[in-house]
Amino acid sequence: MYGLVNQAIEDLVRTHHGDQAWEAIKRRAGVEIDAFVTMEGYPDEMSYGLVAAASAELGAPAEALLEAFGEHWTLFTAERGYGAMFKMGGSSFKEFMLNLHSLHSKIALGFPRLQPPSFWCTDVTDTSLHLHYQSARQGFTPMLVGLVRGLGRMYQVDVTITPQAAAAGENAVLFVTFTPTPHA
Ligand code: HEM
Repeated sequence: MYGLVNQAIEDLVRTHHGDQAWEAIKRRAGVEIDAFVTMEGYPDEMSYGLVAAASAELGAPAEALLEAFGEHWTLFTAERGYGAMFKMGGSSFKEFMLNLHSLHSKIALGFPRLQPPSFWCTDVTDTSLHLHYQSARQGFTPMLVGLVRGLGRMYQVDVTITPQAAAAGENAVLFVTFTPTPHA
């Protein structure tokens, strides 16, 4: 995965647990890189290894860390100059959900070797939808849950997320309910 992802994991750990915790996690994961390069590709195993090491060092389940990571991602990418991408994503939470797929196609223009996840929505109403997630990678559904929660905060809407049974070939289906975006 692109270095941007590992940088965001590092940022989350350093912000909430300090520099020593981050050094211990890297040591445990066997990662000897001082600074990740945003646009460089790193093996997926490195990101999985960092999450597993963080889980052991911080005594928290990997799923909980990935969820926190998803929430952090909305703040982190906005700080790193991708805020405009979020603004283009839609004027309301619902619109953003419906545009998620095209958002990643736009991101791929700036990240040519991106292996983007796919998203699509079904059963869309004014207050709910089913969000379908498909990816070449396994294990990132908790990150998606955190992301949707972070987006809810960004759009100032109350969100509930309930995992549903996924069809073959899908990583996850989330039933998402939401209140209207203020001033949308
Ligand atoms: C401007 C904002 C965003 C940027 C710059 C961005 C960029 C990226 C990058 C670079 C990766 C790693 C993939 C790779 O290296 O091949 C990734 C993965 C991922 N992104 Fe985004 N993303 C953004 C917003 C979002 C949003 C809003 C969602 C969902 C609500 C999302 C869901 C995911 C998920 C679940 C993965 C995990 C890996 C996978 O399934 O392959 N991203 N993103």
